[in-house]
Amino acid sequence: MTQDELKTLVGQAALHYVEAGSIVGVGTGSTVDKFIDALAASGIKVAGAVSSSVRSTERMKGLGIPVLDAAEVQRLGVYIDGADEIDHGGHMIKGGGAALTREKIVADLAERFVCIADESKLVQALGKFPLPVEVIPMAAAQIARRFADMGGVATLRAGVVTDNGCHILDVTGLQITQPRAFESDVNQWPGVVTVGVFARNRANVCLLGTAEGVKTLR
Ligand code: 5RP
Repeated sequence: MTQDELKTLVGQAALHYVEAGSIVGVGTGSTVDKFIDALAASGIKVAGAVSSSVRSTERMKGLGIPVLDAAEVQRLGVYIDGADEIDHGGHMIKGGGAALTREKIVADLAERFVCIADESKLVQALGKFPLPVEVIPMAAAQIARRFADMGGVATLRAGVVTDNGCHILDVTGLQITQPRAFESDVNQWPGVVTVGVFARNRANVCLLGTAEGVKTLR
């Protein structure tokens, strides 16, 4: 099966976690696009969705799925999103699509994070995928120096301005063996909007697309 077919498989499998009449949190990316398409085709009528990006909002509206403002919602039963890397503890690197800040906000509203990913995303330890960090532009150089002190190399993602008007640094050379401590630490740095390690908001369930079918990791 191709990577695209695996993404379709897990996008469809995620429907199992969507209750008719509920409000669902929706992430961003090519795997989530498959979930949005599957939801629209399924006939499951949700009360609405809280979206993590302009991209997902436009796709859902185009398919007739009502999109609600996060401020209108107190709690979500489930948040469904992809990942750039996920370890066996459900910790993730996210932000390849530059939507990490809104993704973390919507994930934080949810009782349960269901990650949908093809098997290439499963890792033993986070850090091979360049870590996205959303930053206030004037702080970018100082934050890059702080990563250099940790052995990382931060590169400004050229031409990208996030939905929040900020910039993205992609950091290579890190080995993130303590994701929760790492996330807390980097969150303290002035000018960091969001670090793309999702440890506090880790996945509760991962639907992994494999050649043998969808594997459920908890
Ligand atoms: C966007 C994300 C995505 O979930 C992540 O990049 C995975 O994307 P894809 O499903 O296209 O592989 O974090 O900010």
